[in-house]
Amino acid sequence: MKVIDKIVEMKQFIYSVKEKGQSLGFVPTMGYLHEGHRALIKEAKKHNDVVAVSVFVNPLQFNQSSDLEQYPRDFLRDENILTNDGVDVVFYPSVDEMYPNELSIEMNVVKRTNVLCGSSRPGHFEGVVTVLTKLFNIVQPDQVYFGSKDAQQVAVVDALIHDLNFDIRLNPVSTVREKDGLALSSRNVNLTTSERTEASEIFQSLLKGQEYILNNPNWERHQVIEIIKNYLDEHTTGKVDYVDCLSFPNLLDDIDKNHDIIIAVAIYYQKARLIDNLILNHNGFIKYGSE
Ligand code: PAF
Repeated sequence: MKVIDKIVEMKQFIYSVKEKGQSLGFVPTMGYLHEGHRALIKEAKKHNDVVAVSVFVNPLQFNQSSDLEQYPRDFLRDENILTNDGVDVVFYPSVDEMYPNELSIEMNVVKRTNVLCGSSRPGHFEGVVTVLTKLFNIVQPDQVYFGSKDAQQVAVVDALIHDLNFDIRLNPVSTVREKDGLALSSRNVNLTTSERTEASEIFQSLLKGQEYILNNPNWERHQVIEIIKNYLDEHTTGKVDYVDCLSFPNLLDDIDKNHDIIIAVAIYYQKARLIDNLILNHNGFIKYGSE
């Protein structure tokens, strides 16, 4: 596997891939890879001749410096995983390489971000679309792979690709879960032992919301939210950041019978904020995004 840390070298590598007429799948990550990332890589390998992964902890998308500092990093470990998984190239730039000077252009995401993580992490999605625009321009992938755990990110990337005419196919990949249902996340390592034990209740709370929808054809949004909130209040010590039920991928609270929906939760523990969701059709059946 090639490890490339300079944009110009990455572009040369990509040029040689394109010259050979090979298809290119891309998995952007912030490193500290887990089974969730490996599922994205596996999917990318199935459908492309060449697979590129980026490992870059993007400072622009962190609105709290403590969160940026606490974000786990271990490139050697990542490099081993990527080599074993048969990735062709990893792009591992420094912050200076990606942001050599103050940006003159700011991106502003005006839809799909006033709810869920967007409302509690101002500037987060602006940082995400900025780095992804740069990465998409450098890597020029045919297909990109994103985890459904970050469903709002999937919705925003869908808008980015569409609005800015990137010739890229977006593939959301199912959330990978621990045996007890906890969605895999690089942040899980920051949980205390007791937080880790009770964190499985996050998924259970979503299943309670889904159960209510499945059993009530005329279900109401506020009831879904209340059922999940009540369950979390009883079963976790974490502080609920949000519980919501919205249309997907538009993320509106005005839910039409024809729309798919997302039920989503975010919880603060001492050193980690965890998110999880289910994407369902209107009758409550899993649409995609959870195994
Ligand atoms: O999901 C992530 O890890 C990040 O938001 C991404 C897409 C790599 C952009 O920095």
